[in-house]
Amino acid sequence: MSNVIIPARSVVRWASHLLKRPGVVLDYGAGNLRNAVYLTNRGGTVWAVDLPWQLARTTEKFSSRVGAVAHYGLVEELNESSMCFSGAVCTYVLNILSPLEQLMVLGLIQKRLIPGACLCVEVSRQTTKKCRNSFTSNALMDLVTSAGFKLEQAWAGSNWLAHRYVLEKI
Ligand SMILES: C[S@@+](CC[C@H](N)C(=O)[O-])C[C@H]1O[C@@H](n2cnc3c(N)ncnc32)[C@H](O)[C@@H]1O
Repeated sequence: MSNVIIPARSVVRWASHLLKRPGVVLDYGAGNLRNAVYLTNRGGTVWAVDLPWQLARTTEKFSSRVGAVAHYGLVEELNESSMCFSGAVCTYVLNILSPLEQLMVLGLIQKRLIPGACLCVEVSRQTTKKCRNSFTSNALMDLVTSAGFKLEQAWAGSNWLAHRYVLEKI
């Protein structure tokens, strides 16, 4: 199993925004912990959450990564705790969810972030054909801003989209 970690490009590009404020960064749908470990290595404290089957898989395959991050747990813990986060990353998660799940996930992240926090989102980009698992930049912006975030920067490649948002102060 390769130990080389290649984080999402948006997390590398916007790490300084994610780590600007003191506090804990949430990695929502952390997968193999590539972003969580990267941000930890940059001096951040990261709470990574995912679904049970992914937790089991990552713990089995990448136990050293699990040991490296401050916390790696279940999504449900977010509902149960009163934890607040100074930033969040959500890469390649929204594009595998139904529209209703997308709204629920963004609502959950929003509820847990402090005002002014940075949210970094990366998804597959919709190119010519309409594909359920991809977004246009406008569709992604409409979705994330509907949850109370303001778009600060957009960045795109031929098949990916990265947006950096800030949680608007109330
Ligand atoms: C394509 S992977 C991306 C993983 C990681 N963010 C990355 O970029 O490497 C999608 C991840 O989202 C997680 N996921 C799917 N549905 C989710 C949900 N409702 N809440 C939280 N995580 C979810 C999956 O378990 C998986 O780890």
